[in-house]
Amino acid sequence: MPEKAILKLGDKTIELPVIIGTEGERGIDISRLRDETGVVTYDPSLGNTAVCKSAITFIDGEKGILRYRGIPIEQFTEKPNFMEVAWLLIFGRLPSKEELARFRDRLTDNELLHEGFRHQFQSVPVDAPPMAILSAMLSQLACFHQELLSLQDEESFEDAAARLISKVRTIAAFSYRRSLGLPFIYPDPKLRYCANFLHMMFSIPYQQYIITPEIEDALNLVFIMHADHEQNCSTSTARVVGSAKANLFASCAAAVCALWGPLHGGANVEVIEMLERIHKGGVTPEECIRQAKDKSNPFRLFGFGHRVYKNYDPRAKILKATCEKVFAKLHHKDELLDIARKLEALALKDSYFVERRLYPNVDFYSGILLRAMGIPTNVFTVCFAIGRLPGWIAQWKEQHDDPTSRILRPRQIYVGPPQGDYVPLSKR
Ligand code: SDX
Repeated sequence: MPEKAILKLGDKTIELPVIIGTEGERGIDISRLRDETGVVTYDPSLGNTAVCKSAITFIDGEKGILRYRGIPIEQFTEKPNFMEVAWLLIFGRLPSKEELARFRDRLTDNELLHEGFRHQFQSVPVDAPPMAILSAMLSQLACFHQELLSLQDEESFEDAAARLISKVRTIAAFSYRRSLGLPFIYPDPKLRYCANFLHMMFSIPYQQYIITPEIEDALNLVFIMHADHEQNCSTSTARVVGSAKANLFASCAAAVCALWGPLHGGANVEVIEMLERIHKGGVTPEECIRQAKDKSNPFRLFGFGHRVYKNYDPRAKILKATCEKVFAKLHHKDELLDIARKLEALALKDSYFVERRLYPNVDFYSGILLRAMGIPTNVFTVCFAIGRLPGWIAQWKEQHDDPTSRILRPRQIYVGPPQGDYVPLSKR
């Protein structure tokens, strides 16, 4: 007998169906609540509300589990291949050799930007925020690829997805080069996804950037760790925009704007700035912890805490271990890693963090790894976006392909003034 929830409201009692997920998580289906009772539920940060059923990513926040299409993320660390994970997330299974080769060719065919973009880059100030440029340029793809504004079949969807995933690197690299007044370095069709991005970022016209296998693997891993995370703020944004049947470029451009926020993807920048303040002696780790606990102080311990993880973020664990492995292999030193370790140790034995179950999240160590690759702090959130793009596309596609999906339009509880009358200006 399927489980039911009983809701008693005034003299009314109604039965609500209970939905059971793959891992036994339960949800009370209230989709008929307002029709049957006239009332709505109230959950302002949606922390208790499932807005969709999804088969893409599973998180168990209590146990610190993260799986992409059922595969634990730890299993992608051996030989990290971001494009393979992107394909898995979007199409729901691991690609065959031929499928991966075809996807790689499609990305190579789409790695260049229309030359019209050059003028766009020249028109922005050199100190323009990279996330503003990224969002604008992703939206601009709609101008240069108008045939992909409405995706009628699988082929056109794959085309749009490949253009976004391939061109996002070129946009990010050109934006970085523009900020330094350096010439654009065009993509090299012989290079794999991450190597090509590093080439476009750091090569100079007369000297190709030397790809270190450890760095290439580390960048694949950073992107994989960011690839999807179920209904986070930026993914929900992509779904909301996509639910109005807006095109894929617009939905991903909107998601970039949400990710920009310091409470979301912008936290990886805040973490490095926090560690640098400690490194420069502006504040001690102990003082940092004290400020984070002080309710009268808006400062938070960036890279710590999470809406879903009430345990160690498995991505933080992997990124921390990767920092140590890459640093040892390359004989690289960064005192910010030592400071991060100290800050983590202090927080994890402090009752304020323990009681609230605040642990390092994906942003706590990701920046230190990106720094080791020579990626500047103001490009960190752009790198988060490059990693998250396949997740946004996968989630958008899942909603787009669902015949039952409708425009996302939440309700509200009105607390404004009761009915009143207009007062003409002459009488105010
Ligand atoms: C990402 O959703 C996702 O999946 C996001 C993400 C993804 O992959 O898409 O995982 C990526 O966004 C990671 C989070 C990056 N942000 C930060 O590191 C910023 C610092 N963290 C916090 O701002 C906070 O932890 C959030 C925003 C991440 C979560 O916020 P919640 O769930 O709304 O938590 P909350 O504000 O309700 O906090 C509960 C308590 C509060 O104290 P009390 O009111 O109970 O006394 O914990 C405190 C908070 O003040 N708290 C912190 C804290 N995080 C929470 N106190 C100090 N430092 C912190 N970092």
